[in-house]
Order: sequence, then C-alpha cells, then structure tokens
Amino acid sequence: MAIIYNEEKKVFHLQAKDTSYVFEILNTGHLGHLYWGKKVKADLDLTHLIREQSRKAFLASEQKELSLDLIPQEYPTYGYTDFRQPAYQVKLENGSNISNLKYLSHEIIAGKERLEGLPATYVEDSSEAETLKVTLFDEVANLKVVLSYTVYQDFDVIARSARFINEGEENINLERALSTSVDFRDADFDFLHLSGAWSRERHVKKRPLEQGLQAIESTRGASSLQQNPFIALTRKDADEHHGEVYGFSFVYSGNFLAQVQVNSYKQTRVTMGINPFDFNWLLEPNETFQTPEAVMVYSDQGLNKMSQTYHKLYRTRLARGKFRDKVRPILINNWEATYFDFDEDKILDIAKDGKELGLELFVLDDGWFGKRDDDSTSLGDWFVDERKLPNGLGSLGKKINDLGMEFGLWFEPEMISPESELYRAHPDWCIHVPNRTRGQARSQLVLDLSREEVCDKVIEMVSDILDSAPITYVKWDMNRNMTQIGSAKLPAQRQRELPHRYMLGLYRILEELTSRFPDILFESCASGGGRFDPGMLYYMPQTWTSDDTDAVERLKIQYGTSMVYPVSSMGAHVSAVPNHQLARVTPLKTRGNVAMFGNFGYELDLTKLTVEEKELVKKQVAEYKEVRELVQQGEFYRLVSPFEGNNDTAWMVVSEDKKEAYVGFYKVLTEPNAPYYTLTLKGLDPEKNYRIKGMDKIYGGDELMYVGLNLPKLFNGAAPSDLDMIGDFQSTIWRLQVIE
Ligand code: DGJ
Repeated sequence: MAIIYNEEKKVFHLQAKDTSYVFEILNTGHLGHLYWGKKVKADLDLTHLIREQSRKAFLASEQKELSLDLIPQEYPTYGYTDFRQPAYQVKLENGSNISNLKYLSHEIIAGKERLEGLPATYVEDSSEAETLKVTLFDEVANLKVVLSYTVYQDFDVIARSARFINEGEENINLERALSTSVDFRDADFDFLHLSGAWSRERHVKKRPLEQGLQAIESTRGASSLQQNPFIALTRKDADEHHGEVYGFSFVYSGNFLAQVQVNSYKQTRVTMGINPFDFNWLLEPNETFQTPEAVMVYSDQGLNKMSQTYHKLYRTRLARGKFRDKVRPILINNWEATYFDFDEDKILDIAKDGKELGLELFVLDDGWFGKRDDDSTSLGDWFVDERKLPNGLGSLGKKINDLGMEFGLWFEPEMISPESELYRAHPDWCIHVPNRTRGQARSQLVLDLSREEVCDKVIEMVSDILDSAPITYVKWDMNRNMTQIGSAKLPAQRQRELPHRYMLGLYRILEELTSRFPDILFESCASGGGRFDPGMLYYMPQTWTSDDTDAVERLKIQYGTSMVYPVSSMGAHVSAVPNHQLARVTPLKTRGNVAMFGNFGYELDLTKLTVEEKELVKKQVAEYKEVRELVQQGEFYRLVSPFEGNNDTAWMVVSEDKKEAYVGFYKVLTEPNAPYYTLTLKGLDPEKNYRIKGMDKIYGGDELMYVGLNLPKLFNGAAPSDLDMIGDFQSTIWRLQVIE
C-alpha cells in the first residue's frame, strides 16, 4: 500500500492491496482520472490516456481552455464545459449556480482521520492505511473542497469523502455535495443493485448500462427497504467468481443517490452521495460541510471477492465495540410469539423453555411500555406498562437472568405517537410543516432529531430504562419514513437541511448511548431491513435483516444482503408455521438451516412446540454453538443463486485457515424423477483432505472444488419411503473438517 505523488508528471498513484487508482492534475488545474483497477507498476506513465482518448475534448493547444465534457475527472464541476452530472453544485449570493474547482495543494498522511459526527471506516493502527487529501479551490466563490482518499494495506478498498469550506465572506448554498465521482473510459458494464420492499429486501437486480442516466435513490429519510445504498458495475463476462467488478457502498442511513451516466462516447460516470433531491445546505463564512463516506471496492475475481472485501472491512473496520469480534448470543424474541398480548408469566414461560433448549438471550419486543396494546399509542412514553409487567423491567430482567439467560429490550426511540404523554407535552417535537396535516404512518410521527433538545431527551429516556434493568441487548427499531418534512426550529433557508441534520442527530444519539452502555449489544431494525446500511453498522454490529421470516423468502433476502454485508451483521430467526408473512409451511429443519447462516435465533412461542420439535430445536441450537464462530467470522461464498432459476440456493463459509467449512444447500420445490446434481465448493485448500460430518468417505479439497459433491438423494428424487426427505422446501447442511 502506498500513495505516490509524481511531482514532475503531477500524477497521484494510490495503491491499495492489489488495486491501483491513478489521477493527474491537468494543465488547467482540474483533476483528470486515469485508471482504477488491478494494481499496476507505480512508475507507469498513464498520462497519455486522457490526451489520446479525449481527442475531441482538447482544443488545438492545451494552453487554451479545455473542454471538460469528455475528460474523465475526479470531482466534476457544473457550469463550464462538462454537460454530465456534476459531483457538487453551489448557489452563490449573486444567484449564480456555477463553480470551477482547481488544484490548490495536497497532503498524504498515515492512517485515516475520523469523519466528525459521521460513521466511517477506521484504522486501529496508522500503518493500516494511508490517506491523500487534495485541496481544490474555486477563487470566485472562495470555496475550498478537500477530497479525501484512503487506501488500505489489506483491502482492495478506496474510501472517499469530500469536505466543503466556505473561505469567503458571503453565504454559499450547497445544492449538491456528493461523496464520490468516478469516470470510467467505457461502458461495457452491467449495473447491479439491491432493491425490494418490505418483506422482500435487497433482491439482486442487474441491467445493462445504456446511454443516459440510470440511478437508484432514497428520498424517504432512511436508506430504505426499497433501495440499498450500494451499486456495482460488473464487466459483461463477470459472475460470482470471475471477472472485474467495481462496488460502491455508501456509509450513510438517510437519503442517497447512486447514479450511473453513460455519454455518447460510451464513457461512464458513477456518482454517489446524499440525494441532492430536496437537499440544500447553507454554508456561512468559515463553516464546513463534511460529506459521508463512499467505500469503493475493486475485484478482479467477481462479485464474491468484492463481497468478501466488504464483509471483512465492515466486520472489522466499520463495526465497533466489545461485540465486534465476539460470537453473538442465540436469542429468543417474543414478537411473533405474542405480538402485544403478553404478561410477565407468558414471557417467563417462553424464557424457561428457551433456557431448556439452550438459548442464551431473551428479547422482549414491542408492547412493554406506556399503554401499548396495539401500534396506535405510546411511542415516546418509555416507562414500563405495569398492567403487563407489574413488577417492572428490573424484576423481569432479574428473573430471566436467574433462569440463566440474558435480557434484551426493544425500543423505537426516533418516533412519537400522537397518543402519548410526550406528544401532549411537546406537540412541536415531531417533523411537520405548519398548517399542513401531520401524516401518520402506523399511527406515529417522526421526532425532529435535527433539534438538540429532542436528541437529549431521547438519550435521557433510553438511558433511564437501560439503567433500570439488567439489559445486555437492545433492538433499536424505526418503523416509518419521513413525510411533510419540516422543523419547527430551523429557519426558513435551512429547512432542506432537515433530513441530513436528522441523521447527524441520530448518529449523535447512537454514539452517546453506545459509549455510555458499552456492554450492551445493539441491533438495528427498521420494519425489518429498512435501514440495513453501513452507517447503522458503525454503531450497531448487527441488523434485523427482514420482517419476512419465511425460510424460502429468506434465501433471496440473505443472499442479496450478503452482496455487501457480513453474515455477522444479519439477524436470522426461526419462526412458526404457517409463516406469519406468507402462510407457507416449511420444515423446521429447513427454517433452521437457513437461519444458521446469520445471527441465529428463534421468534415463535416455544411453549407450543411438540416434543419432537423441541428435540430438533435443541440440536439446532447445539450445532449453531459449535459453528457460530465459523459462520460469523468465516469467509462467505455464494454458490448457487436463488435469483437464477429460483429453485436452488447454495452458500458456504470457510474459516480463514481453511480448516473448517459449513455448506448449506436448499431446494425450494421438489422435482419428479430429478436429474443428478453435484455441487462444487469454493475456498477450500486443494492440497488438503476433508471429512464431512456424518459421512464415511474422505474428500480431497480439490475434489470438492473441482469435481464436486454429489447431492444426496433427497435432491435427486428420494424414494417415497424416505418420508422426511421428500416434499418441497428441503435442505441440507454439510460440516467439513480438514484432516491434518
Ligand atoms: C418492526 C420490526 O421489524 C419487528 O421485528 C417488530 O419489532 C415490530 N416492528 C414491533 O413493532
């Protein structure tokens, strides 16, 4: 890893693990992008690229004004000669909207600086990374922009952000302030993204690039169920394990834009950042604006390698705190077991059974506070409902601890029910616009976290509860998006700052609470996976992946989520059948086999299980305890996609030392008189032999990866006598151990 500056050529060469990223200072002072891809020699001269490829762009001599329209750039500007989408845009006091940033200076520092008030990847030792900070200046606007690029020693990652500084004496309105912009010299890519809706989050979507704009975004005040803040450009010949892939992931939990533009010469521009739609930031003299971070990953071995880079970076250098490197507890959550209808006895009955089955953490979900018998009241009234829990949370927590389990609690602190004491006391604390309806969703409004006193109150209310009981886990939920966006506190010219100020307020709350309560494991949730993003992972190392707990649907959801997010971040629970979202009936075995590839838990009424079901649950729990370190910290490989063909899915994890592996194979519908299938594995040591638990034969690592593993007969047409092995929704798991 190194960042090299060639003084004579005015070229920056950033080298990450096996990646090079190269750009130059053009004669005009603009930054021209030269290359991003597989590592090349540090002294390679690439400066001819722009001159040759942009022949139409240069006027007769380079001394004259340059047309930027075809020049690959680092942080393109609006208003001069580039007609593509800019990385930023300003509005000055004289009403002008154009700007022109030119190189002023640069510095290279060891390590990586924190981004004030924002989540970002980090280093533990300054030798892990190097950061280049290039300062650009617009002399008319007196605007400085510092572009920051961090390269990591052990990752094919370039982390980018931008900081705006108003050095003048007049106000500057930032109307667009994106975090990254990368120009590619061609457009031979597909555009991959993760899209969906409630209960079908992060489905993998792919389409060819075409001349024009293609984008995904959120305008909902949250990163959203509908689009995840991630895109990849994949070469036409790339797949899971081959070919070039460029990933862009946004470390932010609010409105975002990820956009790809192809011009008439098949050049491609990717931009990513806070969504400029309904955004404006008033930058007064001497004020600064820091953009969130975009994490860009290059892979020359397909999507899976890109994902592995994100997984390890996000697991070890984005997630923080005591639980980052620890195996996570197996939990039982009462939501689908009881919904709002519970009392202390019911909770303790479930907890008792949970303990007997080997579960480690009881999570009390929604309905324990205020007067909340359904979702129409009480958000904001964070004190225990003594009708349901007459002895209080402290006592309940102690009783659960006495059973030998930890105690966890659900909150939805960003929200307020109009039917609550808090709302009656502070009716202007919600996001709203005067004289307009306060539109409710799930009977609730969003607290205005752009206001300091509202954030302080949230910190105080949550802290009081956390101090009052032996709580070691918090599920932090958020169940509606922003509408009628306005703040009673912000001046008129700052109203469009609200969604970003909300995120800054939320991040302050999370920073404060996670520092005050370092021994609590926080899990984020937003109607399931509505805010499954790197921003939240910085504060909470795990996220509830989806409200959809159906095993078949989970195949797609977990497969898509794994594109960016590590297994250690994905909450995955076994729930009851008929499934509460779809009414599908799947075998308990398959529900377990799917959830095992996540942060495992149960979300059903354990007291209603049959003796046989309890036996199986016991076995699942015991097995997960044995494999969880491998599952949560191993390298994840996607083997068979549920999005292609839809009937089969397979994935596996391999320990870093390749001594252990865990493989899951799932078949949605059974097949009559099926053909024979084999599954080829990945990531094993070809020189070593492996034993598969429950089988006599010894397999070579090479055999498993190149010849393949014959699927057992349940997938190849089981005999009608093997009743537990036939039918729809079958699955199997293999546990591999190297033979030394
Ligand atoms: C939405 C979450 O995703 C569910 O798991 C559950 O906690 C409910 N909210 C409770 O209201």
